[in-house]
Order: sequence, then structure tokens, then C-alpha cells
Amino acid sequence: MSSVEYFTYEGMPFPATIFSEETFNHVEKEFQILDDDVINLTYPKSGTHWMAEILALISKEGDPTWTQNVVLWDRSPWIDTTDGLKKALESPPPRLLNIHVPFRLFPKSFLQSKAKVIYTLRNPKDVLVSYYHFSVAMKILKDPGTLQEFMEEFLSGNVPFGSWFDHVKGWMELKDKPNFFFITYEELQQDPKGCVEKICHFLGKELNRQQIDSVVKYSSFKKMKENKMSNYSQADDTLMDHKKGQFMRKGISGDWKNHLTVAQNEHFDRVYQEKMQGMSITFPWD
Ligand code: A3P
Repeated sequence: MSSVEYFTYEGMPFPATIFSEETFNHVEKEFQILDDDVINLTYPKSGTHWMAEILALISKEGDPTWTQNVVLWDRSPWIDTTDGLKKALESPPPRLLNIHVPFRLFPKSFLQSKAKVIYTLRNPKDVLVSYYHFSVAMKILKDPGTLQEFMEEFLSGNVPFGSWFDHVKGWMELKDKPNFFFITYEELQQDPKGCVEKICHFLGKELNRQQIDSVVKYSSFKKMKENKMSNYSQADDTLMDHKKGQFMRKGISGDWKNHLTVAQNEHFDRVYQEKMQGMSITFPWD
């Protein structure tokens, strides 16, 4: 295991290189959400960058000039990182913001605002596999060890941003709020056009057919993988070891089947059943 320095915040481990207690505190207690903010919310590895690209393209009526010329984390800063928070505070409205925190650490100012939150969820088995490969390549994350070892940490919530189950259960309590919209990675893959239409409707953006097609086209896995402003090729060598893995890895649903053994899958299912007991929503992977 490598010696990457982590600190614990609210029971969750975080690398000290890009996160800090002060930032989390500021985000929760002081950060002012503005009514015209659009917030791209996810548990890590659930399609954050994909949704960020879709939202950026929608904001420009499908014109890819912005997404092809400005790097993704400058278009839509991660407000839960120290650098991203600074950028967000300097950004003129309307802002497009990314965040991964569980509901209890989300800016409290949201509760009085009309800002729109889009929560993208993904089959947690694919999240696990994606998170594992990401951890191998990211120098700022701890070496994940074997997939079996990482799965134990993931299932017990001992990874940055904590338990997937707690994240989903906490956020889904907001599902009936008018300024909260949730969608899954799997739906985005099955029907990208229908999803973009739904997102536009939620945002109150009217795009014509050609503009919607352009959003779908430029946010496709292929186009994003080619776009150096979205494919992580701009990520600093101190953050990522580009030889150890690509950010735009596979972009498919069900890759877990290529990685989990029968026993690991059964164990995952048991934990899932136990933790998700009582959830009234059925997801595409259930
Ligand atoms: P894989 O590792 O399974 O390939 P996040 O942005 O939340 O970190 O999620 C990263 C995952 O989303 C990666 O999954 C990445 O390949 C996938 N992804 C990124 N852009 C995508 C797109 N346009 N279409 C489908 N998947 C995409």
C-alpha cells in the first residue's frame, strides 16, 4: 500500500491533497447557493463528468465551443475541493457546480434556494469497478490493493465520500422536491436523447431538435474521449499516473460482470439487500 496522506471527516477518509476540513466546513455552513445555480451531484464514479458535459452543452444550446476550449473542472468546479471552491466563489452566475458530498454535508443554504440539483446514480457494482480502476491510476488516492480488498472498503464506506448506500438513501429523501431531479447512468445510456429532453424540461431550457441532437452527440463517450478538455489528458502528472489507467475507461454498464467472482457478487448482493431494505424506489439494476 502506498503512503498517501488521508484525514477523516465525519467518519469518511479523504486525501489531504485536494480536500480539507476547512473546505468541507465552509461548503456546508457558509457557501451561498444561488437561485440560478445548477448542481451536478453524484457519488464518485457514477457519471459526474458525463453529466457535467451534458449540462455544459445544454447551457450553450448544443454548441460545443465551450466544452472544447475550457477544461471541464473550470467550466464546472467541484465545490467540495479546495481549488474548486475557490473557483466557484470567483465564478459569475449562472454557475454550473459539481459536488459529491452526502446530503448532511451539502450547503445548508440550498434549503432556502431555488437552485436545481441533478443527482446521477449508477449501479453500485459498476461504481465499485470504476472506483477501483480510478484509484489505481490516481496518485492522490491510496493504492486500492486487490479488488477484493477494495470491495470490503467500499461496502463498509471506508472510501472518499463514504458509503454508497448512505449517499443514495440520504439524497433520495429529497426525491419529491421540485428542484431535485434524479437520473441513472443506465437510463442515460439506454436513451440519451430522452434523458437530455427530460433534463432540459427540468431546467426550463427549451432546445430544438437539432440542439438536443448536438448535446447527445458531443456528450457521447467517443466524443468525450477525444475531447482533451474532458478526457483527463490535462490532469496534472502529480494527480494521475496516465500510464496506469485512463479516465475515460470503458463507459459501459455491466462491466462488473467481467470483474466480480460469483462469490464476490453474492456477497455484494447480500450487503445491498441488507442496506437498501425499505427503499421504495426501484433502480434499473434491481
Ligand atoms: P468506467 O470507469 O466504468 O469507464 P465520474 O465522472 O463520476 O468519475 O465517472 C467516471 C465513469 O463515467 C467512467 O466509467 C467513465 O468512463 C464514465 N464516462 C465518462 N463519460 C462518459 C460518457 N460520455 N458516456 C458513458 N460513460 C462515461
